[in-house]
Amino acid sequence: MTRPTYTARPQKTSPIGLEWENAFQKASDFVSQLTLEEKVSLVSGTEGPCVGNIAPIPRLNFSGLCIQNGPLALEQGTYSSVFPAGVTIAATWDRNIAYQRGNMMAAEFRGKGSQVLLGPVAGPLGRSGLGGRNWEGFSPDPYLTGELFTETILGIQEGGVQACAKHYIGNEQETQRQPTQNEYGTTIESVSSNIDDRTLHELYLWPFQQAVRAGVAAVMCSYNRLNQTYGCQNSKTLNGLLKGELGFQGYVMSDWGATHSGAFAVNSGQDMDMPGTASFGPVLFHQNLTKSVNNGSVAMDRLDDMCRRVMTPYFHLNQDKDFPAIDPSNKELNALLFSSPDEYRYNYTYGPVANVDVRGNHGAAIRKQAAEGTVLLKNVNGALPLRSPKQIAVFGNDAGDFTNGMSVFYFNGVGNYEFGVLAAGGGSGSGLFSYIVSPLEAIKQRTGFRKETLFQYLLNNTAIIEEDSPYLAALLPSSPDVCLVFLKSWATEGEDRTTLHTDWEGDQVVEKIASQCSNTVVVMHSNGINALPWADHPNVTAILAAHFPGQEAGNSIADVLWGDVNPSGHLPYTIAKKQSDYSFAAITNSTSLQNTNDPTAWQSDFKEGTLIDYRHFDYYNQTVQYEFGYGLSYTTFSIEKDMNITSLHHGNISIFPPTSKVLPGGNPHLWEELYKVSATVENTGEVAGAAVPQLYLSLPQETMGGLSPVNILRGFEKVHLQPGESKEVTFALTRRDLSNWDVTKQQWAIPIGRMQVHVGFSSRDFRASASFTPI
Ligand code: NOJ
Repeated sequence: MTRPTYTARPQKTSPIGLEWENAFQKASDFVSQLTLEEKVSLVSGTEGPCVGNIAPIPRLNFSGLCIQNGPLALEQGTYSSVFPAGVTIAATWDRNIAYQRGNMMAAEFRGKGSQVLLGPVAGPLGRSGLGGRNWEGFSPDPYLTGELFTETILGIQEGGVQACAKHYIGNEQETQRQPTQNEYGTTIESVSSNIDDRTLHELYLWPFQQAVRAGVAAVMCSYNRLNQTYGCQNSKTLNGLLKGELGFQGYVMSDWGATHSGAFAVNSGQDMDMPGTASFGPVLFHQNLTKSVNNGSVAMDRLDDMCRRVMTPYFHLNQDKDFPAIDPSNKELNALLFSSPDEYRYNYTYGPVANVDVRGNHGAAIRKQAAEGTVLLKNVNGALPLRSPKQIAVFGNDAGDFTNGMSVFYFNGVGNYEFGVLAAGGGSGSGLFSYIVSPLEAIKQRTGFRKETLFQYLLNNTAIIEEDSPYLAALLPSSPDVCLVFLKSWATEGEDRTTLHTDWEGDQVVEKIASQCSNTVVVMHSNGINALPWADHPNVTAILAAHFPGQEAGNSIADVLWGDVNPSGHLPYTIAKKQSDYSFAAITNSTSLQNTNDPTAWQSDFKEGTLIDYRHFDYYNQTVQYEFGYGLSYTTFSIEKDMNITSLHHGNISIFPPTSKVLPGGNPHLWEELYKVSATVENTGEVAGAAVPQLYLSLPQETMGGLSPVNILRGFEKVHLQPGESKEVTFALTRRDLSNWDVTKQQWAIPIGRMQVHVGFSSRDFRASASFTPI
């Protein structure tokens, strides 16, 4: 589909304008007609056919809200699509693809009668590669995440569905995300992410600021504590930062069971409790909220504010007009997957037919999106693209079809299945596959049935690595032209990874195959960062990070292997030399904490500040295996050494943004473009391809102090070029792009001194540099 006229940058004014005000007016009128009980029901989840439900109010023609997961699919959806994961989209470095995926998901949600999509994700940001849910989000770089998060939200909301940006904030680990009870009955509180003000602004809040600017309908407050206070009752982060500093106009919805109090949470800024039923602990809203209003501990004005916040996005997105009714199949799926009752107190409106097929032509786009999110890390001896190999061998338990059914991703304990392609991670951010194309199937279709090809495979990792494996011996004597090894690494909600190495003895599988096959091509289906101890093995001729591709897994990778798609993905994170190089951002996971009797023992100090991922490796000048931003192509690109920096402002630039009324996104002056940088990119190779020129800024170190990064990403563009073609790429730098958070002044401040700009093809491959002095 083509993208509407919206351009990510420059975006001069907040999209929340007059139309929002009209919607606010409608919401106010609506709320003024509600009884106290109705107001309370509008902010308290209840049982129903969706993962989250707001009850209908038939006398006002309000059919309720059907709230569904999640960031890559309609989790509880028959005949719906499973899209590539957030990390895959991050690896595309393509705003259009992020928008398109969001927009297509919205079409599916709408088609199934769901007004609210629980996504996208910018928390976790990905402080640690072990984070169990990093794949749901985009990248540990706040700029890259901010751009793709925003485009996803715009895609979803321009498709008429409310986005819910989650999980706010500091939700960087799964371990102890919820309180537990120890053997003495003591409640051990959730982990506290202890994040200083500057780091919060420059890293973890950064993408949410853009989401607010883009008019995101809802924000989900997270399970963890932030600086000792639970995410859903943290007045500093909810009332202070989100609604105050950033000017958020929508509603704060709790994560499922993340509400820890009634009146206190409400007065701290939480607007909606989910799921609101006893299934996730005590019911803290509903009649308790009615009581709180009656006894004055929650002001009626505050309840009205909560209701207006819930209803404004609903009217803004015209959900009061012709919104499809709920697909009746939701009811059964909800009962099946979450054992929820199938008789409810409320009369939800269901559509006439069950199992509406909402997939449209999305499969073709998913195939393309995932291929674009595949990163070519190594390609020597002309290994790829494949040119009619006569003898092909496929190895690894990730290559074949699902063997445990299509809903393996839901049920605890069976998620990390041994045999079958890993096309998504597990938990609420997964999806119900209506079909899957495995790599083996796609490769067979290309070659296997041709009589001139010898096509063999061995998918059992244990059989591959066993000593003197007879299975392998039977396969390899005639030395295949190419050995394709498929590895995977599982990640899921609810637990963090314990290793960055691939699962199921992936390292040994590669070593074994590479010891016997001089043209070993490795493909990884993975949640994100992997340790690759075999990367420099001379017989490993090509490596592809294919991330979590969704339902077209096999087709997407075959398209890249055979060169129908020229790879243009780039790493949205850094692959270090070894796992221990990442120790700066360890998950708080100490076994001594497992049996603690101290309720607040779980503390995670973000001592590294803003120095995560490439910022860490650059600051400490450490060698890495494949750096942030890196990715190869089947063609080559160059960037002209000379680039232009144009100042877009008149007169002197002030250190701080001029004082202004807060608009969604904060002080509107933060979005003013102060400089423009132009560079010319050329395709110097033989085939068409897409380059991703990236702009890094080096702020003057002297004036910043503390642990300040050497270079930070502040621009990127995906540029499609024919052989020999060149294009000028322009990056706009806003005031926020040039600023640091000044903790004393509580303002974004442009540091005094000379700034370096670098444009290149990765965080360590700069091709053109220049400098300018804003102040
Ligand atoms: C908990 C997860 O953290 C959240 O992302 C999800 O949307 C809710 N459960 C609902 O399933």
